[in-house]
Amino acid sequence: MDQLLTPYKTGSLNLKNRLVMAPLTRRRAGEGNVPGELNALYYAQRASAGLIIAEATPISPQGVGYLHTPGIHTQAQVEGWKLVTSAVHAKGGKIFLQLWHVGRVSHSLLQPNNDLPVSASAISAGDYITTPIGKMPMEVPRALRLDELPGIIEDYRKAAANAISAGFDGVEIHAANAYLLDQFMHSSSNIRKDEYGGTVENRCRLTLEVTDAICAEIGLDRTGIRLSPSNLKHGMDDPDPAVLFGYVIHELDKRGLAYLHLVEPLAPLDQHPHMVRSVAKHFRKFYSGTLIAAGNFTPESASETIESGDADLVAFGRLFISNPDLPERIQYNAPITPPDVDTFYTPGPEGYVDYERWNG
Ligand code: FNR
Repeated sequence: MDQLLTPYKTGSLNLKNRLVMAPLTRRRAGEGNVPGELNALYYAQRASAGLIIAEATPISPQGVGYLHTPGIHTQAQVEGWKLVTSAVHAKGGKIFLQLWHVGRVSHSLLQPNNDLPVSASAISAGDYITTPIGKMPMEVPRALRLDELPGIIEDYRKAAANAISAGFDGVEIHAANAYLLDQFMHSSSNIRKDEYGGTVENRCRLTLEVTDAICAEIGLDRTGIRLSPSNLKHGMDDPDPAVLFGYVIHELDKRGLAYLHLVEPLAPLDQHPHMVRSVAKHFRKFYSGTLIAAGNFTPESASETIESGDADLVAFGRLFISNPDLPERIQYNAPITPPDVDTFYTPGPEGYVDYERWNG
């Protein structure tokens, strides 16, 4: 397991080990979607990770799709996040913030003025979503007008600037898991006729424009991005994800970002022969910079992935929920605690800050 515990130093990243805490929505923000002391304690407990990527965080009121998720678009939220970043830094940790616009994975009951959620095209994700009055079917979203897209890019730019003023070491663009940028990239959710739809180049345009705007604002060495080429959730599919993501990853490679973060398939792909099975292994050849792999890793498989060169760093999600001291447990070969799924999204400290450190 030595591979995982070695430091990782490149031009922009200087990490004490190769274990990344994956972004994890926990729905425990306070009033006004402002993070507070409880969230600061949770992240500080996990500061021995080489890098923490803080949970998906809406860049605007329109970007919200889940209750009690912390935002990064008001001054109160920036002040709240300062508690988190200073607590993590005090423990010697590094922390990026994941920037989020959910697009159609929302509901009018969660949107400003009860407007319809927005997306690339007026196509429903065909799923259910939790609203203030319970689970509801997702609606048919409103297709964003061409003249609205500069405003979306601007929201991302401002959110990145806010993240830096809140003390984050950088940001991760959430272009994965069926949210707005992913909805633009996939042909199943994007049937636009303008320069943001049709060809692969057009469908990837918004993701790359957002990336460029954020890099111009905070620097490419503080900008990472997450993609999930083999995700099938929330109506995502594409006839040829290898071509789609091959293109966007090649374009991202030219930019020299802090990192590319790839999610391995999380559901069985037996019925989907066109999907990419080993995501990091497949796309490594298109990307020469720092690559983070995530999804169903054990310490053993993570170590093998780094040794084989398929990734430079490995992110753990669920195991970081239930093992705040995961690096130490790996180092001392201590038992790994399984997570309690029932408290992933419940309010309060239970299942959040009460997982014990290993003290053997
Ligand atoms: C997630 N995941 C996730 N992904 C993301 O990009 N942003 C997010 O905010 C979240 N939120 C989230 C919450 C919870 C409770 C879970 C379990 C998962 C996905 C996560 O980052 C990771 O990719 C998966 O959990 C797979 O990794 P593990 O858990 O197998 O290590």
